[in-house]
Amino acid sequence: MTVKVISKSSKKTGNTGEKIARFLRPGSLVLLDGDLGAGKTVFVKGLCRGLGVSENVTSPTFALINIYKGVFPGSSEKAEIVHCDAYRLSSLEDLYDAGFFDFGEDAVLICEWAGNVMKEPPMGSISVNIVRRDDISKNYREIYISAEGEEGELIEKAFH
Ligand SMILES: Nc1ncnc2c1ncn2[C@@H]1O[C@H](COP(=O)(O)OP(=O)(O)O)[C@@H](O)[C@H]1O
Ligand SMILES: [Mg+2]
Repeated sequence: MTVKVISKSSKKTGNTGEKIARFLRPGSLVLLDGDLGAGKTVFVKGLCRGLGVSENVTSPTFALINIYKGVFPGSSEKAEIVHCDAYRLSSLEDLYDAGFFDFGEDAVLICEWAGNVMKEPPMGSISVNIVRRDDISKNYREIYISAEGEEGELIEKAFH
């Protein structure tokens, strides 16, 4: 199931990320793709806001991985959030080497530039593809959110 969201501002993109946070559970994997400056990090900031993260969320382009503490929406369960930027990586092995999978099965894993390190989104992941439409206007983005099964249906419902 793929949902298309039109965004004409970074606020809308952030709010879309925030809305997706409620579908995250321990072990969730969120994969983001889109050109430089598409709004992946803006989306992740919103996602983290939805997870109650109080730390400043920044692009981990140089650090490769940032870790935040949050809470799963609608519960008091603590969430550990791992945010990776795979811009400079080129294989799944690189992602393992960066320590992305070292945080236990309950962590929420978020990866920008996922297409650099994996061909297919693994089962159960949420994929977010942000397309710049400079041909329409400077701030215009198409956000495609894909998830399988029941989760995909719930996400679709939330956006209609
Ligand atoms: N509709 C929009 N959605 C997201 N970002 C937007 C939008 N319009 C303009 N922008 C700007 O585009 C940039 C996106 O940056 P960023 O999220 O860091 O991109 P990425 O992580 O994909 O490289 C920001 O400067 C943001 O203000
Ligand atoms: Mg980024």
